[in-house]
Amino acid sequence: MTVTVKSFAKINLGLYIGGLREDGFHELRTVYQTIGLHDLMTVNVERGRGIEIRCQHSAVPKDESNTCYRIVDRAMAALRAKGRVVIQIEKRLPVQGGMGGASTNAVAALIALERALKKNLRPEERLRIASEVGSDLPLFLIGGRVLGVGRGEQVFPVVDLPAMACVVVTPAVGVSTPKAFTEWDRKLTAPDASDRMNLLGRGLSAWLGQMYSGAPFRRGRRENPLLELVRAGIKNDFEEVVFPEYPELSKGKAALERVGAKYASLSGSGSTLYGLFASKEAANLAAAKLRKQGWIAQVTMTLPRREYWKKMLS
Ligand code: C5P
Repeated sequence: MTVTVKSFAKINLGLYIGGLREDGFHELRTVYQTIGLHDLMTVNVERGRGIEIRCQHSAVPKDESNTCYRIVDRAMAALRAKGRVVIQIEKRLPVQGGMGGASTNAVAALIALERALKKNLRPEERLRIASEVGSDLPLFLIGGRVLGVGRGEQVFPVVDLPAMACVVVTPAVGVSTPKAFTEWDRKLTAPDASDRMNLLGRGLSAWLGQMYSGAPFRRGRRENPLLELVRAGIKNDFEEVVFPEYPELSKGKAALERVGAKYASLSGSGSTLYGLFASKEAANLAAAKLRKQGWIAQVTMTLPRREYWKKMLS
């Protein structure tokens, strides 16, 4: 049986990096948001054995180092399933772009595999397998707006708000995430790492509390709730180490701000930059201006959880 699913990208609405842990990972606090840009994944289970990855893109590994290979290998064993799995990736998202391309592909491959086999993993097992393959995978098992803690793999759905227009700028550079983390450690040894974690935790609690509670703390007219999150002081720590090394990315963020983004930021460790806009029209105009300036810019919408699942399988 052949199953095709859309593999949606994510952006990070803020990302705080804490201390280096004993396991070599960094403690993180981040809010992930799925967006409408996507790759297409087709999974086919045939007679025989093994896993084959097909992809036209030269930078996508076709061997067992591919995240799709790794997750399917684990899932086949956990499901005690037999057969040859052929995974076709139609790549549209940038490779090493900070939009979770390899991670979303792996989760999409897993979802397609389970449908193709008509067999399901238990939810905890699915999460375990996803987090073994990478820190950024489990968020795609929830979709919409997701709080990520631990190394980013402990994920919790947070209040999911209506879609917001987004312009995604993809400069033609690939940033290595492990290198960016190493640079963070070298430049900014963070003795105050736990304070920083508390800071983002407090900002998020204040924001979520405001969304959910009827407490009479609110001042003035309510803004778009996403912009309220922005005003809670979110930022992406990776900008501090990635912008000095790639000045073009800092220029891209400034360009997004100049064309009217309500909030602009690097996504993950980059190189993707995004801007949030008040309307789709404003985003279209902004993207047209950016393209004239030579940037590769695409307009999309943030993807709430319901649409994430509905569109993935349609
Ligand atoms: O989990 P993932 O495979 O995406 O991580 C890739 C690398 O990024 C890790 O080997 C580690 O060097 C770094 N990393 C980290 N802290 C995290 C996530 C990733 O140091 N929270």
